[in-house]
Amino acid sequence: MERITWRNTFSVGVAELDDQHKRLVGMINRLIDEQKTLTTPETIAELITEMTDYALEHFRAEEYLMAEYGYERKDEHVKVHHDFINRTQGFMAAPVGPNLLSKELLEFLKSWLVGHILNEDMQYKPLFQQKGVS
Ligand SMILES: [Fe+2]
Repeated sequence: MERITWRNTFSVGVAELDDQHKRLVGMINRLIDEQKTLTTPETIAELITEMTDYALEHFRAEEYLMAEYGYERKDEHVKVHHDFINRTQGFMAAPVGPNLLSKELLEFLKSWLVGHILNEDMQYKPLFQQKGVS
């Protein structure tokens, strides 16, 4: 599976959020790199939990800025964040192959993150720029 390549078009114009997105990309890339060598369910669960914990921290930072600057689509955005965590946890609860990180989960993480940054996150960019958040 191909890794995610960070592109300038992923930038939401706020350094803190871009850095967090880059770190999430890095965490998913690590899972992609190591998918064949991650052999114990415990290691996989540990890395996924580490990633979702960091995603939660990042979502809180985004949601804080949305509240602070009165982003009008905050509620639906928050819902999308919750949905991501629920779906990821759903994958972890489902019986996957005995020893392999499921390809479906990796595909989901990869396409969700890239799609979320380019679609939903990009929608707050103009407001934050207008408010001078950088
Ligand atoms: Fe977001």
